[in-house]
Amino acid sequence: MTSALLRPAVAADEPFLWEMLYEASHAADQGLTVVDLETIPALSRYVEGWGVESDLGVIGGPAESPCGAAWLRLLTGADAAYGYVDDATPELAIAVAPRARGTGLGTAMLERLVADAAGHYPAMSLSVREDNPARRLYQRVGFVDVPRSRIVNRAGTTSITMVLRLR
Ligand SMILES: CC(C)(COP(=O)(O)OP(=O)(O)OC[C@H]1O[C@@H](n2cnc3c(N)ncnc32)[C@H](O)[C@@H]1OP(=O)(O)O)[C@@H](O)C(=O)NCCC(=O)NCCS
Repeated sequence: MTSALLRPAVAADEPFLWEMLYEASHAADQGLTVVDLETIPALSRYVEGWGVESDLGVIGGPAESPCGAAWLRLLTGADAAYGYVDDATPELAIAVAPRARGTGLGTAMLERLVADAAGHYPAMSLSVREDNPARRLYQRVGFVDVPRSRIVNRAGTTSITMVLRLR
């Protein structure tokens, strides 16, 4: 994709974000459906009630059929999620529909979100499975591993927290 179509994520995008959360969380590997995600707080907190003031996201792809999303949510206190770093740092979730992967959309969305977030947040963080090829994308954009952040994830493999300092 040479010139990705990108726009800000708004409250009306919540249904699409559930679909993208399904991809980002590898929920199919566990035999889950998109609807199941709503019953799993560790996942639903990334999307439920999308559109509050601190939410920031990018939707990618044609207007009539979006195919990717990258979004940030400030998840603190009881809502702190897999990639929690501190109360000022929102967590990133990102996914591209399988049909559109490997075409540059994920990179374009992430670069746009990083640019948009710079005026709002000091950093962003994420949790990623250690063997996920997405780690290379994150490293290219400037994310670094958080020391001693390796944990055993829901799938029984290892996940690591990464952080990108914005200022
Ligand atoms: C990660 C993801 C959003 C990247 O979007 P994309 O449009 O495919 O990415 P781009 O074409 O811009 O860049 C390619 C990079 O994406 C990553 N990537 C490519 N295919 C991937 C896949 N199937 N799964 C995970 N990451 C992948 C790699 O880092 C790749 O870089 P490389 O070519 O150096 O290996 C997308 O592949 C995806 O949705 N993967 C499945 C969900 C996921 O793993 N989300 C992240 C959870 S932390």
